[in-house]
Amino acid sequence: MRVGVLTGGGDCPGLNAVIRGVVRKGVQEYAYEFVGYRDGWRGPLEADSVPLDIPAVRGILPRGGTILGSSRTNPLKAENGIRRIKDNLAKDDVDALIAIGGEDTLGVAARLHDEYGVPCVGVPKTIDNDLSGTDYTFGFDTAVSIATEAIDRLHTTAESHMRVLVVEVMGRHAGWIALHSGLAGGANAILIPEQRFDVAQVCDWVTSRFKATYAPIVVVAEGAMPQDGDVVLKDGTLDSFGHVRLSGVGEWLAKEIERRTGKEARTTVLGHVQRGGTPSAYDRWLATRFGLHAIDAVREGDFGKMVALRGTDIVRVPIADATARLKTVDPALYAEAGIFFG
Ligand code: F6P
Repeated sequence: MRVGVLTGGGDCPGLNAVIRGVVRKGVQEYAYEFVGYRDGWRGPLEADSVPLDIPAVRGILPRGGTILGSSRTNPLKAENGIRRIKDNLAKDDVDALIAIGGEDTLGVAARLHDEYGVPCVGVPKTIDNDLSGTDYTFGFDTAVSIATEAIDRLHTTAESHMRVLVVEVMGRHAGWIALHSGLAGGANAILIPEQRFDVAQVCDWVTSRFKATYAPIVVVAEGAMPQDGDVVLKDGTLDSFGHVRLSGVGEWLAKEIERRTGKEARTTVLGHVQRGGTPSAYDRWLATRFGLHAIDAVREGDFGKMVALRGTDIVRVPIADATARLKTVDPALYAEAGIFFG
């Protein structure tokens, strides 16, 4: 049996741990051979592969990024994409494909399996933790730790200057990183994409925090949006519902807070720092287990499935179920954090 492995979409701490888990168990227990496809779906599309064996995965467990490279190539949009993938897998004698990725990568894997009969197993990956079907994705814990450490550090500089510090974290569609790091870091406001925020309310929280003689920290997810009345249209574009969507929401919010409260404000955009570097112990553990279970799914011929975490168990769910809708922050969970705002 020859198994292809690819990593697609934005990179994420723990990808190498999955690859290592897959290859170690596949070689040691099942005597499988592996082909590593480079840069996500671009690899099988353009027949770009590298050998993947035990020496290739030695020492990669603590390394961030992915030894296979990644891209957002979508073969469903390429000319004869499916045909080319099928031909190239056949040329490489590949019997099954393990696709490690987020919504887009797994969405392609689901269609390749369901509509074109390509034997795929999915492994969920995203620092955003917004994939359905699994309690957690690896990479999230690392991203939350990095954001929390940043918030801790920003507290002391905010206090020294009695300024507002706005921290913009990743999360285009879901506020998991903002909510978890904001709670862990003791933020005075947490703003998430799931709920439009009221700038006047944020300014009230900021003002009350100053009254208590503390400097406020506002954590805002990159996809968080102000209520429409709060933003002059030329500052934002409209989303598909006709609502205002801002790019650079952190910077915009800091300026608004300064203008409305008269308090000095600064913005820190954490960006790709949240995705880089070594995975946390939890993410290595989860990613390794996902890898071990993914190769077992191949062994059992259980294709079209994605490995997933339920409680402390690794289970399998149809890939299509996991990509059908995003897992967003539950309003009750968000409301729970509200006690700390202001
Ligand atoms: O999906 C993960 C994610 O990190 C998002 O939170 C972020 O908006 C996006 O990727 C950034 O992607 P890129 O690497 O293309 O800038």
